[in-house]
Amino acid sequence: MLENAILVTGAGRRIGHHLALRLHQEGYTVLAHYRTHTTEIQALQDIGIATIQASLSDSQAILLFVEALKKQCSSFRALIHNASSFEATSEDLTVAAQQYEQFFNVHMMAPFLINQGLSALLVGEDDNPADIIHITDINVENPTPRFDIYGTTKAGLHNMTLALAKKFAPLIKVNAVAPGPVLFTEQHSVAVRQQMLDETLLAKEGGAEPVYLAVKSLLDNPFITGASIPVDGGRRLSKR
Ligand SMILES: NC(=O)c1ccc[n+]([C@@H]2O[C@H](COP(=O)([O-])OP(=O)(O)OC[C@H]3O[C@@H](n4cnc5c(N)ncnc54)[C@H](OP(=O)(O)O)[C@@H]3O)[C@@H](O)[C@H]2O)c1
Repeated sequence: MLENAILVTGAGRRIGHHLALRLHQEGYTVLAHYRTHTTEIQALQDIGIATIQASLSDSQAILLFVEALKKQCSSFRALIHNASSFEATSEDLTVAAQQYEQFFNVHMMAPFLINQGLSALLVGEDDNPADIIHITDINVENPTPRFDIYGTTKAGLHNMTLALAKKFAPLIKVNAVAPGPVLFTEQHSVAVRQQMLDETLLAKEGGAEPVYLAVKSLLDNPFITGASIPVDGGRRLSKR
């Protein structure tokens, strides 16, 4: 049974994998969640990081996941909600309806049920509050119309940050980290990448480490709650 673990959801690749690895290197007990068993998950397992598999695609599966977490871990230092689906909204309404359901479940339902289900097990260090950290997106304040379903469900997660900060105080801090262009995806064409870089004050793709540094700063700071840290190289100021 793990104690005082940090749960990182969506740790099977990219930012989630980096967060799990860096928190482990920092000395935290990490529980890395994944949906697909990837070489990155194998690498985490090989260095002794505990893992747990689940699809967060419907309420039943999420509720089962909460029960499985309680069996694997007696207390949590932090919950980091990183799992996410990122796709442009389909022109086909039937497909858009499926996307809405999928994005709602992973961006809003899963964080809510996991936070609510595990809140009694969250314990901070040295009399300080424990942490819930939602990985959102700078799109929540200045949305991109082509990604409106993705953006609106991330905005719901942003609002949940504020609601749960009130609800869980003073024992748990609830904050968001809102990345901008940190790691491009296949959804970004060469032209879109260039436009994003042109709109980013610090003029580069930031990488996963700045996201980790924002997460770590929240874990280290006992007096921040209900806040959102943009990790976007300034893009929110100039994004069209
Ligand atoms: N990359 C960026 O520049 C950027 C910008 C803004 C915000 N963000 C935010 O930062 C976070 C990490 O970004 P990323 O680019 O590393 O994300 P990513 O490459 O899309 O990875 C997302 C992870 O979430 C998992 N996931 C998706 N749907 C799931 C479901 N229904 N059930 C369980 N797991 C599921 C995926 O598992 P599978 O491997 O099984 O698909 C994957 O491991 C996300 O919250 C994203 O919104 C990133």
